[in-house]
Order: sequence, then structure tokens, then C-alpha cells
Amino acid sequence: MRYFGPEFLQRVSDSLNIADVIGSYIPLKKKGNRYWACCPFHHEKTPSFSVSPDKGLYYCFGCHAAGNVFTFVQKMENLSFPEAVEHLAEMAHIELPEEQVSEEDRKKQSEITAMYEAARLASDYFHNCLTKTRMGEAGLAYFRKRHLSAETIEAFKLGFAPPAWDRLFHDFTQKKNFAPKTLVDAGLVGYSNGRYFDMFRNRCMFPILNLKGKPVAFGGRVLDDSKPKYLNSPETPIFNKRRLLFALYQALPRIRETRQVIMVEGYMDAISLHAHGVTNVVASLGTAFTIEQARLLKRYADEVVFSYDMDAAGQNATRRALEIAETVGLRIRVARVGEGKDPDEFVNLHGGDAYLEAVRQAQPAMDYLLASLLRQYDATSLEGQQHILQEMFAVLTAREDSFLINSYIRKMARAMRVDEGLIRSEATRYVSRNRPGIYISPREPVKEAESRESQKQVRLEEGFLAYCLLYHTFPSAWPEMKDFPYASPFCQRLAEAIRAVETEGQTLTEKAVQQKLGPEDVEALAALLMKDDYAGTIPWEEFVRPLKLGYLQKEYKRHTEKAGELSQEQPEAAREEMLACIRLSREIRELQKKTSG
Ligand code: GTP
Ligand code: MN
Repeated sequence: MRYFGPEFLQRVSDSLNIADVIGSYIPLKKKGNRYWACCPFHHEKTPSFSVSPDKGLYYCFGCHAAGNVFTFVQKMENLSFPEAVEHLAEMAHIELPEEQVSEEDRKKQSEITAMYEAARLASDYFHNCLTKTRMGEAGLAYFRKRHLSAETIEAFKLGFAPPAWDRLFHDFTQKKNFAPKTLVDAGLVGYSNGRYFDMFRNRCMFPILNLKGKPVAFGGRVLDDSKPKYLNSPETPIFNKRRLLFALYQALPRIRETRQVIMVEGYMDAISLHAHGVTNVVASLGTAFTIEQARLLKRYADEVVFSYDMDAAGQNATRRALEIAETVGLRIRVARVGEGKDPDEFVNLHGGDAYLEAVRQAQPAMDYLLASLLRQYDATSLEGQQHILQEMFAVLTAREDSFLINSYIRKMARAMRVDEGLIRSEATRYVSRNRPGIYISPREPVKEAESRESQKQVRLEEGFLAYCLLYHTFPSAWPEMKDFPYASPFCQRLAEAIRAVETEGQTLTEKAVQQKLGPEDVEALAALLMKDDYAGTIPWEEFVRPLKLGYLQKEYKRHTEKAGELSQEQPEAAREEMLACIRLSREIRELQKKTSG
């Protein structure tokens, strides 16, 4: 992937007005020093999406989407970061920096282009075969039997692979001049015993599209009960199974609108649901749900509803998928559509509205998991309890989020009819072995107070840094603030970015700071600076004083403890520590006096 240096990014963003860029996608209305629009990232009727040209940032008060020109274009166009940069550089008429392309890279690139072309033509070929030839009649009859209309067949460009050994191979090498190697590399053709043969023969074809809507692979289903039921393209340079989902391209508009994805197991499930108007549905590619797929979905959605078959295999797949979705921070629920039915059968019997009702009633992931474990194991036996707890803990700790597991312990105790203290000690054992970063509180209320305290700290830190950026300066009144140990990792990085800008003698602006932060922090920065219109009061009272007070008190405690440690062995050093304590306590008193006075 291409790398662009910070100077180049700065040049691109300086030559574009964010309002012009965003205005070319959605109509903006000026009000005060901001522009407003209905948010392109969620569905709304009154505008809560705002753009600030001075800051070079956008923020949505409804869905909290936030970022700069690069992230906007990235999201709107589904691009990687470097692709978004290239796109914007082109818009700003800035030439890309020279890139060294080796002969080998050039060759690889042209091979990949040829594979895309082969997959595209194969998709047309199968589709034509289905809809326009005698051979395709068997396929059409099958799709009709599965209740698919001509429109659905068009929308998914379904096809049929002819019942011959090497028809595609023959046509593509003779008439379309493809090299056999390209067809093999693209997974369309196999080679054995000195002969080439078509991979897909006499099968109904489901093209798999990438995020740009280009076909990159196929699933092929037999027309009867023979095996294997489905044959899927192998991994190729243009098809990474772990990073794609079936029907994602078709589902994206609705996923963006609802911020929700429905995950099903089979191609037919996804297609039937789309055909019945439920269009935020994607299907796994015959493999387990992967972390890459979870991250991909996280870009467009906040919630995944799993709608797997209700058989044992489906339940196991659901459990594994939950752990993965939890890791990336997606909200998860599990829908049930009646024993023994898959979503395809259900929607054909009961219709789209009934299915949507099942989705509305989907159970939160943890409740589903607990209920399904309680069905599987005997919660009255010690062994059963161990199984249940192990599986629950695995999912509850997937994200390094102490709050989640702590808040669920009481619920588990009640459902399993086990003492809460016992579960807490089991949880403590589990995390010390597997997830040492997580804290299990001895009792619930303590934890809540603590997290309130740390939330307050983060609010202060964010407020302080927001003011620095508002006034384009770091306050000189408190030099130590420069080395302040921030509790929030984002604030720590932001403070470092601010310091770097100042060290270089640049003016402290939102844009300059953006260049020093990694792309992963831009969203948090935009949310911070656009969320509130900070009024022109002095931040001292509200932010700096409480921060400084907390800092001095911590320092006081540190020096007192050090003095205690040193008192026996090094009395001279201990005295130094005591003096530091006296200085600190005087400072603390003075600061407190200022507050009350
Ligand atoms: P039908 O409704 O019978 O067409 O299938 P389905 O969509 O209900 O599929 P099923 O629940 O049997 O399997 C779910 C998914 O697993 C399918 O869509 C395929 O992607 C994959 N799959 C199923 N059977 C096979 C197989 O034999 N080989 C491979 N590689 N994948 C399969
Ligand atoms: Mn099925």
C-alpha cells in the first residue's frame, strides 16, 4: 500500500476547502461559521451534520460520525486511506509524488488486471448462459423452484455454468485470448493430468462482488442432492475470503442507512431476504465469521444481528461469531426464526415483515449466549457451571473492557442460581490467567464510582485541550501542564501532537495538529472540537484548576510515599522528599484558596 508523508497530506488538505469537498456530495447550508446538512451516514430528516471550514472538520450530532476531508471521502467512496488521498489530490490538481515501480510490480499489476477481467467476463458468461441459452433452462427451473424472480436474478446477476468439461476454458482461451494461467490463477479453471477443465460445471452460479461491485469469485450450487452442495472459488490474488461477505455490495446502502447488518449463513438466505425487501443482509462465504469481516462491518454499522440456522452447527457458529464481533466493539443480537428453519424458508413462508419482526425481537448477544449455555449444560453441577462460566468469560472479556464483565456477573449469578461472590472469584481467576488487563471488582458499586471518577478526569482533559486549540495556544500560566500525565490515551497523543506543532514553531491550528495525529485519531479529534461550541470564557476555572489540583495531590502522595521508603536508609534524600511535600501542600492550599475566593 502507498505511503504519503505528512507534508504531502498537509498540501492536499490546504488546497481544498472541506465545505467544497463535502458540498460536492451533499447540499450544504451556511449558518454562522458552519455549514449544515442532513447526515450522509445515517438516516435523518432534519440536519444535524455540520462542517467547519476553519477547523477542516465535520461532525454529526446525530450519529457522531466525525473526521476530516480524508476520512469523509474514505467513508463515502469506500476507499482505503491512501486511495482517499489520491482521490483528493486529483481533485486539488496536485500531482502525486513519484513512485518507484519495479518491473516485477508492474507485471504483477497487469496479471491482477487480467484476473479481474476474466472474473467479470465469466460473470457475464454464466449470466448469459442462464438467461439466454437452452443449456440454462435447467438452472432457471431450479431458481424458479426456489422462488426467485427475474428481477432478483438480474439484481444478483445469477448465472449457470454449462454442463461440459471445458467449455469456458475453450471459449476464453480461443475467443477471448486469455492465457490459461490467468484462468487458473483466477480460480475459474483447474489443471490436472495434462488437461485443463472448468471448475464450475452444471451448477447455479452466485457471483461474489468486492466492495467496488466487481465480481471476484463465485459460489456454485448443484441442482440436486449431489455433493459437494456448494463449490466456492479458491482464494486468489483478487479474492480474500476472510475480507469479503456475500451480498455486501448490494447491502451497503441500507446498512449505512440503518447502521445495522443482518448476517446469515447461506447465499440463498441472503438473496431471498433481499428479494423480500430486507436489504441490509449479508452472508458468510461458507467459512466462519472472521475478525477481518467484523472490522469491515464496523466501518458501516454499529450493530450486527446474527440470523444463523437454529441447528446445533448454527448455534456453535453463532457463539464463535459473537466473540469476534465483541472484539471489535460491534453491538450484537441474535435472531431466532423457529426451530429447524433457515431464513430463506422462513421468509418464503411468512414474508419480509414477519422476518423483520423477528429481527426486532432479537436477543442481546450475552443473553442469547447464557440462555443457550443453560440449555446445553447442567447449571446445578460443578462441571456444568465451569463450562458455562468459561464460555461466558471468553466472550465477556473479548474486548478489554472491565465494565462489561463486571456488569454481567450479577445477571449470571441470578440465571445460574449461584452465589455472586463465587462467580466474581472465578472471573478473577479467569482474567488473571487469560486477560490480565481486565479488572474484576470485588463489589459492583465501587467500580461504578471509580469509572465515574475516571470519566470526569477524561472530560477535564478533553476540555482543556479543546481550549488550547480554540485559542491556538498552550496556556503559559502553568508550565508543568506540558508534562501532564493524561489518563486518556487519546488526550496523551493529542497533547504530544500539540507539543510537536509548537516545537516546530508552527501556529497551533486544528489542521496542523491533524497532520501530527495518526488517521485513527482524527475521528476523536473532530468529535472533540465540533461537539460543543466552546464559549469564550477562560478555561482556567473550569478545566485547568481541577486538573492541576488532581495532579498536585497525586504528586504529594507520591513524594510522601517516597519519603517513607527512604527514611531509614537515606535520611538526606528523605528530607528532600519532605521538602517537596511541603512545597506541594503550600501550592495546593493556594490553589484551593483561589477557588473559594
Ligand atoms: P440451500 O438452501 O440448500 O441452497 O443452501 P443454504 O444456503 O441453506 O446453505 P447451507 O445452510 O446448507 O450452508 C450455508 C453455506 O455454507 C452455503 O451458502 C455455502 O456458502 C456453504 N456450504 C454449504 N455446503 C457446502 C459444501 O458442500 N461445500 C462448501 N465449500 N460450502 C458449502
Ligand atoms: Mn437453505
